[in-house]
Order: sequence, then structure tokens, then C-alpha cells
Amino acid sequence: MTAEYKVHASVAVITLNNPPVNGLGLSTRRAIIEGLNQANADAAVQAIVITGAGKAFSGGADIKEFGKEAALQEPNLHTVIAQVEQSAKPVVAAIHSVCMGGGLELALGCHYRIAAPGTTVALPEVKLGLLPGAGGTQRLPRAIGVEPALNMIVSGESIKSEMLAQIPGQKLFDKLSASPESLAQEALTLAQQVGERHAAGNEALPLVRDLKCKHPKGDAYFGFVRNMVKAMSKNYPAPLKCVDAVEAATKRKIADGLAYERELFVNLMWTPESRALRHLFMAERATTKIADIPADTPTREIKKVGVIGAGTMGGGISMNFLNAGIPVTILETKQEALDRGIGIIQKNYEAQVKKGKLKEDKYAQRMALLSTTLSYEDLKDCDLIIEAVFEELGVKETVFKQLDAVAKPGAILASNTSTLDVDKIAAFTQRPQDVVGMHFFSPANVMKLLEVVRGKATGKDVMATVMQIAKKIKKTAVVSGVCDGFIGNRMIEQYSRQAGFLLDEGATPAQVDKAAEKFGFAMGPFRMGDLAGNDIGWAIRKRRAVEKPGMKYSASADRLCELGRFGQKTGKGWYDYQAGKRDAIPSQEVLDMIDAHRKAIGITPRQISDEEIVQRLVYSLVNEGAHILEDGIASKSGDIDMVYLTGYGFPIYRGGPMHYASEQGLINVVQAMNRFAQNPNDDAAFWKPAPLLARLAAEGKSFA
Ligand code: NAI
Repeated sequence: MTAEYKVHASVAVITLNNPPVNGLGLSTRRAIIEGLNQANADAAVQAIVITGAGKAFSGGADIKEFGKEAALQEPNLHTVIAQVEQSAKPVVAAIHSVCMGGGLELALGCHYRIAAPGTTVALPEVKLGLLPGAGGTQRLPRAIGVEPALNMIVSGESIKSEMLAQIPGQKLFDKLSASPESLAQEALTLAQQVGERHAAGNEALPLVRDLKCKHPKGDAYFGFVRNMVKAMSKNYPAPLKCVDAVEAATKRKIADGLAYERELFVNLMWTPESRALRHLFMAERATTKIADIPADTPTREIKKVGVIGAGTMGGGISMNFLNAGIPVTILETKQEALDRGIGIIQKNYEAQVKKGKLKEDKYAQRMALLSTTLSYEDLKDCDLIIEAVFEELGVKETVFKQLDAVAKPGAILASNTSTLDVDKIAAFTQRPQDVVGMHFFSPANVMKLLEVVRGKATGKDVMATVMQIAKKIKKTAVVSGVCDGFIGNRMIEQYSRQAGFLLDEGATPAQVDKAAEKFGFAMGPFRMGDLAGNDIGWAIRKRRAVEKPGMKYSASADRLCELGRFGQKTGKGWYDYQAGKRDAIPSQEVLDMIDAHRKAIGITPRQISDEEIVQRLVYSLVNEGAHILEDGIASKSGDIDMVYLTGYGFPIYRGGPMHYASEQGLINVVQAMNRFAQNPNDDAAFWKPAPLLARLAAEGKSFA
């Protein structure tokens, strides 16, 4: 049963019990209706309390029902709330811990509300590209006033019950309980009192829907808010619709307002932006689920972390653990390297302190957790050791052999390598089951993405532990198999190749970047190259020429590097940069170089549309992504999307490359690829659709 029913003297208590957060799924909704009916039919009962078991009053909709028929099946949430409002006996909501979305809407239908202090209250639907669809936009403004309600609804942010209780004239909470522990008893007492009162007299039951809802400045206020929200919400339609719905609460009768809210809600459900956000919500939760590793797999305890190498990555990686309160020891080969690395960590923290994002004492606490060493002996009690030394197999071999000699049994040995074979690295040790890839992204203290590279021998408990620790350091961890570039970089290589071919054929770096940025990428491929350093790709191409001779590339990127134009770090790359600034200024030298290169390879430049640019860039990701799925490097398309959304600046409102391709219709994607394959200046072999993609397209299916 997803709700329990119990009678205490004259009060019936309906306790929602649908772990983890009492989601309002079909069976919970049915149980509420049954409870209401039973209580109203029982002559001994005078009032009803609705509360939640465990960690929440209710977190709202049941995510298992997301976008499914069951969410609409009767009794749907509207029906439940209407029944609560119509109950002849007073209904008291006893709210604690978490009261969000549909949970708050249910509470707003009750006649009385008592809340525990510290309760997190929110209408977060806008974060999924929606608006509260069960009366929240109509009842919340009536309960707490137009402005506070609109702020909550448009932002989706949560607010504590005690803050809400301080809003002058608010009718959301009749009472705050003295403490979370006393809530149940105080709710019973309140219910008993109102039960007796209503049983005795003819006093009507108070309803939020009957409250007045006006803003003193009326249209002027909504005009102002609309402008502000429009400017902030750019590619997302939902926030403006939230404004429309709340405005309706001030102008329409409640029944009309509810119908209008419903209409807006249903329209938003069908927007690509909401579909993308809902996909992201589900994909994010699914990344940690690994098919052959049960959720109850025992994990290893990580109390102390070692980091090898205090360079760009080692420093950022260390900060993640320090921020989470986990002691870190960094090892280097020379004291100077240690000093430089620690200096950078300090500078990063000091910048945060200056901006007011970090308190002085917190900074001191974090630095106190950090120690340094030149000796492997000092790592012998570390539970997790992450290597971030130069990207050379020989150097990794030396490091892992030394680690194998000193690390305690059961310590996890991780490599931050971005291209090397984790299985080879594991083979340098006598304990390959303890070796795993932890591929952080730069800057490692900022970027959310962590690719967890599962080697052939990596233990299941090691995987479970790393996924758990990733959560602790607030990363989005995505599992990747072993291959060159793992998920993200293997795909970006194809994207970069396309960017190069586009230059060869007539586009400029600025045109390509603009088209990509208009599509929504945080940065176009050439600005990204300048930021990351063009020499990295140069080195990879040189290696490729040996490993995979015959792979076609535009040589313009090589010509660029031959000019010493490595990017922002050398003050010039695809663009020119002024000292201390990051603005990309088109460079005549680069345009001349591209021109000369075109002549050398005999291409007459042509006009290329932005649409073609975007399709070639994005579909190259999609085709390689499909190969990655087929090869078992990624286990689900949502994982690939998460990699691109959290690590590569793919526009959130498009849901990631694989989701985007599905939205376009895979058959259309395949047809475009077939067209690109006809282009003699492109790579026809690459554009042969991956078998998985071809099959799904032929069957009219999507990646999901
Ligand atoms: P880096 O050159 O900034 O730092 C490497 C550090 O390792 C240097 O401080 C060096 O003194 C130290 N080191 C070298 N050999 C050592 C040894 N035997 N023992 C101890 N310390 C040693 O390099 P970066 O960029 O931090 O890269 C490190 C690793 O992270 C590489 O495997 C790289 O592929 C990977 N990576 C780099 C990313 C980036 O954007 N820079 C992104 C993701 C991974």
C-alpha cells in the first residue's frame, strides 16, 4: 500500500508511503481517495490529517510515471485535490522535510496546513520546462501573494517553511510546529480542534481557492516582470508561461484559471525544450545505474586520497576532494612543481574568497586537509590514488609500478589519462581489479563531468565506489569502456574534422563558430580549440598518422600550428587575442593561410549555409555516438547526452546530441548523412550511418 490509514480518536490520518519521496503515483492517489471516503463515512471521525512517511511530505509527481499514461489516469492529481477540497470533514496537511511540486499543490487543496520548520518547499516544474499543472499557479499566489509566488514558480527554487511563514498576511501555513519531532502530535491536536469546531457549527471550510488574488500595480507589474523574464529565459518558453498563468490567477475566476493553467501545461509538455529537460532529468539519474552492478554492491571506504602530479589537472582534482572534506596528499617529483601546484590551488581559493563565494575559515579548513610529498611512502594509507602525470605511457608505467609497490591492499588506483589504454595501465600492476580511469575535465574543480573508465579487469566494487565518490564530489559520472578518447573525445574528434572540412570548402572560423553558437553550443569549435590549445589536436593527428594512416583531415589546423598559433595561451590561434582578454578577433593571417591551403588542395570556395554547418557538426557527433553505443563503450544513449551536456557545452534545451537526433527523426538524420557522403571534399566512409543508427532509422525508432 502506498498510503496508510489509521484513526486516532476523532482524527483519521492518511500517511503517504511511497518511498523515496512519496511521489504521487496512481496507487498513492487512489489510496488518498480511499482514505478520504473512509474517513467521511466513519461517524467517529471528525477531521483528517494527510502527511508523509519517512523523508518527505511529498516530492510531487512520481518520476516513474513521467510522460506516461499512468500520470493522467484517474484519479489524477486534479481529481484528488478537488476531492480534498470537497471533503465534508476538514483536511489538515501535516507538512515536513520536503514539500514540492504536486506535493505542495495537494497541500494547497487542504483546508488547513501545519508545517515543520526546516521544510523545503518548491514548485520546481519550470526546471523541466513545465509549469505547476495541478493548481499551483492559481492557489499559491492566493496563499502567499503574487510576487513571492511568481518568484517561486518562475525560478523553481526552493524556500524554507520558516521563511514562507514570515511573509506578511500569508495563508499558506496556519501554523509552524515547534519542531519537526512535534509535528505529528501538533497536527493531531489542530485536527481535533478544527474537527470539533466544524462538527458543531455551520462554519464553511476555508479554501485557498476562495482567497482574493490581486497585485496593487496590476498590468504595470506584469509588463515589467514579463520583460525581465523574457530577457532571462531566452531559449526556454516555460518561464513566460508561468507569468501568464499567475497573471490569470489575478484576473480570472478560479475555475477559469485552473483550465487555463491546464492548457498551458499541456502545450508545454509538447515543446522540444521540455522534452529535452525531462530527458536530461531522467538521463542524469540513470548514469549511475550500471546494468551488471547491483545497487547494493558493497563499496570501499574512501577516507584519504592521493594525487600524483600537481599540474593543471592534479590541482583541480585535489580541490574537489578538499571541498568535500576529504584529506588529500599530492605527490610530485620536485619541490618546485609542488610549490607551483599548491600556489595555483591557493590562488583559486583566494579568488573565491574575494568574490564572497568562500568564507575565510572554510578556505583555511580546506588547505589544512592538504599535504604534499616527494615520497611514495606517504601514500601508503590512501584509499584512492589518482594519477595525473604527463600523458606518456612510459611515465604512467613508472608511476603505477611504484604505486603497486606501496599502496595498501584494496586501495583504488585511478588514472586521469585522456587517451591512453586503461587496460595497459592496469597491467603495470599486480592488481588490475583495483585500477580504473577517472577522466576529469579541465578545469577539474569546475567541470561537472567525470568519465569513469571501466577496464576489462576493474572490480565491480571499485566501479560502485568510484560512482559513489563522484557523487560526493558533486560530479556527473558517466561510465565509459576503454577506447581511444573514451566517449567525449572520441566524438569530438569527428566534430573537429568536420569543422576543418568546412574551412577547406569555403567557411571561415568565425562563420562556423557563429553557426554553432547560434545553435546553442557554449563555444564554436575554433574558439574551443583556441581555449584548449590547438597543439593538443596537432599531437593527436601526428599519432593518428602512424596508428591509422589514411584517416582524412583538413591540414589547415596543422598549418595553423606551424605558424605557432596554439591558441589563447600564445596570444593567437584561429583568432587573435589581446593581452589579458578573451575576445576572439578574426585574423587576416589565418584567413590568408586558409585561402592558400584551399588553393594547394585545389578547392574553389563555396557559400555554405549555417544549416549545413550545424548538421555536419552535430550529426558527426551522432554517428560516432551510435558507433560508441554499438561497441558497448557507452551503455545507453542518455549517457552520451550527459557527457555532451556536462562536458562539452551542448545546449541543454536540445537535450544532447543523441536526443536531438531522435527529435529530428533518425530517418532524416540518415538522409542528411547520405547527402554529406556525396561531397568529394568530405569523408564519405565516415558518413556511412553506423549500423545501429541505420537500423533504428529504418524501424522508425529513436535512440531512447
Ligand atoms: P601538466 O603537465 O599540467 O601536469 C603534469 C604534472 O605531472 C606536472 O606537474 C609534472 O611535474 C608531474 N609529473 C610528471 N611526471 C611525474 C611523475 N613521474 N611523478 C609525479 N609527478 C609527475 O599536465 P595535465 O594537463 O595536468 O595532464 C595530466 C594528465 O591529465 C594527463 O594524463 C592528461 O592527458 C590528463 N588530462 C588533461 C586534461 C587537460 O585539459 N589538461 C583533461 C583531462 C585529462
